[in-house]
Amino acid sequence: MRAFVLLFVLTFVLLGVVIWLSDFWHSDQSIARAQSEVKLGEKIYRDNCAACHGEKGDGKGPEAQRLKTQPRDFTRGIYKFHSTPSGSLPLDDDILKPISSGVRGTSMLAQLHLSSQERRSVIQYLKTFSPRFKNEKPAKAVSFSPKPHESKELIKVGETLYKDAGCLSCHGADGKGDNPSAEGLKDSWVFRFNPLI
Ligand code: HEC
Ligand code: HEC
Repeated sequence: MRAFVLLFVLTFVLLGVVIWLSDFWHSDQSIARAQSEVKLGEKIYRDNCAACHGEKGDGKGPEAQRLKTQPRDFTRGIYKFHSTPSGSLPLDDDILKPISSGVRGTSMLAQLHLSSQERRSVIQYLKTFSPRFKNEKPAKAVSFSPKPHESKELIKVGETLYKDAGCLSCHGADGKGDNPSAEGLKDSWVFRFNPLI
């Protein structure tokens, strides 16, 4: 009976050790995988992005001075396009969107010559430019209600909202973005920009 109990306990201990070791092995493997993804991302970045966004990710690549809309400085970890609440880091999928679709009206073109894996890897490299990604986690995406059906009544409500919510003060009564209060606006990166082009 005693031998049986001993065997039972030993089996448990052995099983514990095996699980513990395999955990180690798995986490080692995922660290190695993450490192090789960043390495690939670095190469993609140097070949396709650094000319505008800069070797150091500070938005000061050699092409930047020729551009009207300045390339993003990634070192502060502030992203314009994100589905997360204001002030939060973006999700990887948020960063993927401008890379895959480009940013309308700017020199940021869709990078579809890169495979999906290459675009995902370059995101991991972009994140190394800012310590925020090490110290913080992005919040959950903000959820939106489904798009309502367009109707005359709804457009009327929108017109009132456009005035009451103060959109007009920047975007102008005709939506041209030429209202005087739009003059001198600066974005988070302290560049001048216009509400609507
Ligand atoms: C020809 C110049 C140019 C090249 C090359 C370029 N970008 Fe951009 N990128 C820009 C500009 C300009 C913006 C800013 C758009 C804006 O502010 O509306 C931008 C914006 C972005 C954004 C949006 C950031 C945000 O704030 O949400 C991401 C992400 C991005 N670029 C990633 C890349 C990656 C990755 C590559 C290479 C695969 C790349 N870009 C290549 C010019 C460039
Ligand atoms: C303080 C000035 C200001 C106010 C008030 C304002 N906006 Fe804007 N809006 C801007 C600026 C500046 C941009 C351009 C941002 C950019 O390109 O980086 C913008 C961009 C936009 C865009 C994106 C347009 C595009 O090119 O894709 C939409 C849509 C928009 N605003 C709607 C609204 C609505 C609706 C309101 C009112 C609820 C509003 N804005 C209030 C300054 C303002």
